[in-house]
Amino acid sequence: MEAPYHPRFSKAVLATFTAPGTVARGVGVCLLLSTFVAVMLLAMQFHEHLALRAWHLDTLAYVGPAANSTQAEQIRLIIPSFNGHLEEFVHFMKSLACLCTDIDEIPISAVLSNQAEVELFHARLQAQSPCGSNFLNYNTSHVANNTHPKLLALENLYDILPPLLSNTSGLNHTTRDTVGVLKQHGLYKYQSIKKLSAAARYDYDYALWLDSEGLAIRPFSMRETIRAYYRDPVIWKSAMTDERQTDFMRAIMDASAGMIGRTMEEFGRRYWNVERSVKLLGFLGVSLGVGCVCTSPTGSHCFHADLVSSFMWPIEKAVINDLLALRLASAPHQTYWDRLLKTPGLPFEICVYNLFIHLRKEDTAGDPIYDKYRILQVEREVEKFNLTTALEQVSHQPGTGLLERFYLLLREPGALADVVHFTKFNRLYFQRMDDRRFTDKETILKFLKDASIAMILSSNPGIDDWIAEAQLNISVGSWKWINATTH
Ligand SMILES: *[C@@H]1O[C@H](CO)[C@@H](O)[C@H](O)[C@H]1NC(C)=O
Ligand SMILES: *[C@@H]1O[C@H](CO)[C@@H](O)[C@H](O)[C@H]1NC(C)=O
Ligand SMILES: *[C@@H]1O[C@H](CO)[C@@H](O)[C@H](O)[C@H]1NC(C)=O
Ligand SMILES: *[C@@H]1O[C@H](CO)[C@@H](O)[C@H](O)[C@H]1NC(C)=O
Ligand SMILES: *[C@@H]1O[C@H](CO)[C@@H](O)[C@H](O)[C@H]1NC(C)=O
Ligand SMILES: *[C@@H]1O[C@H](CO)[C@@H](O)[C@H](O)[C@H]1NC(C)=O
Ligand SMILES: *[C@@H]1O[C@H](CO)[C@@H](O)[C@H](O)[C@H]1NC(C)=O
Ligand SMILES: *[C@@H]1O[C@H](CO)[C@@H](O)[C@H](O)[C@H]1NC(C)=O
Repeated sequence: MEAPYHPRFSKAVLATFTAPGTVARGVGVCLLLSTFVAVMLLAMQFHEHLALRAWHLDTLAYVGPAANSTQAEQIRLIIPSFNGHLEEFVHFMKSLACLCTDIDEIPISAVLSNQAEVELFHARLQAQSPCGSNFLNYNTSHVANNTHPKLLALENLYDILPPLLSNTSGLNHTTRDTVGVLKQHGLYKYQSIKKLSAAARYDYDYALWLDSEGLAIRPFSMRETIRAYYRDPVIWKSAMTDERQTDFMRAIMDASAGMIGRTMEEFGRRYWNVERSVKLLGFLGVSLGVGCVCTSPTGSHCFHADLVSSFMWPIEKAVINDLLALRLASAPHQTYWDRLLKTPGLPFEICVYNLFIHLRKEDTAGDPIYDKYRILQVEREVEKFNLTTALEQVSHQPGTGLLERFYLLLREPGALADVVHFTKFNRLYFQRMDDRRFTDKETILKFLKDASIAMILSSNPGIDDWIAEAQLNISVGSWKWINATTH
């Protein structure tokens, strides 16, 4: 059963904090305008961008988000979590409640492993201290009593399993506990089941799969951020060196391709591999990020499907439906769930999802669902922003794609402005940054501020203090909310 929370303050009060309706309604148009402006500014240097974006402007009918909210796209956040990430999760939820201006309109599913975890999380959220009037030293007096998002539901995975998984081995039907599934089928499949069960069950146009360790660091609109991605969605690949390739990674790619009836030979095995991006605790329901990486055996470059390298992954309901409906000619009676449990190895849903989009782009020419995706190699895009030399700062980092270690580009002297430019141009509002000693504090804060970063990882201890401190710098002023108009 869902355990929805009750509002701690009235919607009217919240509405004054959220963007005024008329402003919000103008945002879709603003987003289009901003794309157009960005295109004009960059046209001299980036002809291919101009062509692509102009094309998207013509064909993606993004007619001002909803003249009214009943027409607005449905958004949902899906966060698999477990007792080991309780504190990170609660901290994340509080930061959203304090800073995300429209979070109380957005349903959030936290997918937990059993009833005990649901109760543990519930009790901890009840005990959470409110935002107060100066969360991270922003003026949060409008939401001072908030502790967590209003539409947050803590869900026991057992209660949201698709019927086809109701007989899965490892389930304890007496205690409605799913931990046995983890023990029986392993972390990867278990994590996939958590993410996909929620993705399959609920209605939404767009959702985000998020890790538990996020942290909102400035006022922003979740809906606008997701819109900004979907008005021109990109699947990122990253060039890698093959010293990062491991059998473990290959097993993930093989299993992921197998889920959609393909082999890695068909995608170009020589050019694909997988990486782990978040520390893998190898433990109950842990959040982990895995990207799909390609590596050439000659050691130069590989590709990597890589939103992945972050801690958030946008998904589209239409793609999820299509993926779950896929039947393979070799086993027409097997459902996606059957294959997930039966396939040997480590299928990872992000890899499957991204490979599936690649595949569908090829075999469904003209389908607007898949046409709108661009598949870009992040190194090539970065080079267009005068960052070729800065790439050296990342190229020797083991085991990741570029976006995951993107912040290391800031180590390059003089690169800050170009890194900011790239980040804003590509709307990478959520950044993975799990360290804060990689360069000087001023550069890091200037990047976060100027690139309009809305969320980072909370597993970067002390970063909250930096943000809070930065808000006290009178000469700079507090960090403004992300205004898509100005991008
Ligand atoms: C909002 O949109 C719905 C669906 O198109 C429409 O029926 C309704 O009248 C609209 N409401 C307003 C206030 O424009
Ligand atoms: C914070 O915002 C509230 C409401 O807008 C305002 O009344 C108050 O003066 C602000 N506080 C500070 C310190 O700016
Ligand atoms: C927060 O709660 C206090 C005490 O109940 C109340 O006086 C105040 O008006 C509330 N603030 C908001 C923004 O709802
Ligand atoms: C679950 O197993 C029982 C007993 O084997 C069977 O009767 C039932 O149809 C199965 N349910 C599903 C959804 O496979
Ligand atoms: C389910 O959990 C209960 C309580 O821990 C235990 O007694 C029972 O043996 C478990 N059932 C299965 C099938 O594991
Ligand atoms: C390119 O970056 C370098 C620093 O890496 C900087 O000195 C130079 O001005 C930049 N060129 C342009 C055209 O922005
Ligand atoms: C405030 O910001 C300015 C401009 O970025 C910077 O030079 C200065 O060092 C900052 N002061 C503090 C105390 O962080
Ligand atoms: C966003 O920026 C535009 C242009 O600078 C400005 O006109 C508008 O008022 C801003 N909107 C908000 C909500 O700050």
